[in-house]
Amino acid sequence: MIAFENVGKTYPDGTTAVEDFSLEIASHEAVVLVGTSGSGKTTLLRMINRMVDPSSGRVAIDGEDVAGLDPVRLRRSIGYVMQASGLLPHRSVLDNVTTVPVLRGTSRREARSRALELLETVGLDPALARRYPSQLSGGQQQRVGVARALAADPNILLMDEPFGAVDPIVRADLQQEMLRIQKELHKTIVFVTHDIDEAFLLGDRVVLLRPGGVVAQQGTPQEILAAPADDFVRSFVGADRGTRTLHVEEIEGRRIVVDADGRAAGVLEPPAGGAARA
Ligand SMILES: Nc1ncnc2c1ncn2[C@@H]1O[C@H](COP(=O)(O)OP(=O)(O)O)[C@@H](O)[C@H]1O
Ligand SMILES: [Mg+2]
Repeated sequence: MIAFENVGKTYPDGTTAVEDFSLEIASHEAVVLVGTSGSGKTTLLRMINRMVDPSSGRVAIDGEDVAGLDPVRLRRSIGYVMQASGLLPHRSVLDNVTTVPVLRGTSRREARSRALELLETVGLDPALARRYPSQLSGGQQQRVGVARALAADPNILLMDEPFGAVDPIVRADLQQEMLRIQKELHKTIVFVTHDIDEAFLLGDRVVLLRPGGVVAQQGTPQEILAAPADDFVRSFVGADRGTRTLHVEEIEGRRIVVDADGRAAGVLEPPAGGAARA
């Protein structure tokens, strides 16, 4: 479990990025922090692996204050994926993925065979292992970034707008890959995005932030859509524009769900158990 306990961060220049933030993230849960640019998402994420130290409060992993943990070892034990993949440009894909496991004492041979498996896990042809990052597309680089983050088999995966720089089609692909990987690996994932659709797709739980890391609302996507806490949330999730409004039309005896633009979104099934009485 990851616990933020009344955490605040004021940077040396006087900017208060986070005022007073508390949140508990259960093991194996995928939590998405979503908010506009500057709302403190990156600051919060980086407090987990000590790339940023809080000015007040504490962050604990499984009850242990991270302030007492060695930052280098901590960072190597937690997967981290950022927007600009962060791959080492002068090292091959394979070396990028094996660097941390080798630093942690895994034999080179074992790290390599595991890296080739991981490339497949993230949907890459292992034949790409010998290439350099610049010889890959943006989407492929992000996949390598995910493989690298998984290489040390961390319990926790931190992802900071990892798919923000790729085109919408590749992005949708990467999101589906993430859902598949999470189903298989059950990591504790803290995912940061400014895109509410991405948040609703990937999050077991979504935390919607205002500037200053102030929680506007948190809950499952269903809970937030069912009862937006205020106008800020309503506007953020698009409820005020009616973009998420669906209605049902009966066509040839079947109930078809239709979206705000009149496009068919799917077929409405009776609730579980409801069919038995028919
Ligand atoms: N190293 C820093 N020094 C001073 N201010 C910073 C620093 N990093 C971030 N900030 C400021 O803190 C606020 C939150 O930033 P950040 O956590 O990066 O937000 P987000 O990831 O939601 O865009 C912003 O106002 C940003 O300008
Ligand atoms: Mg950010």
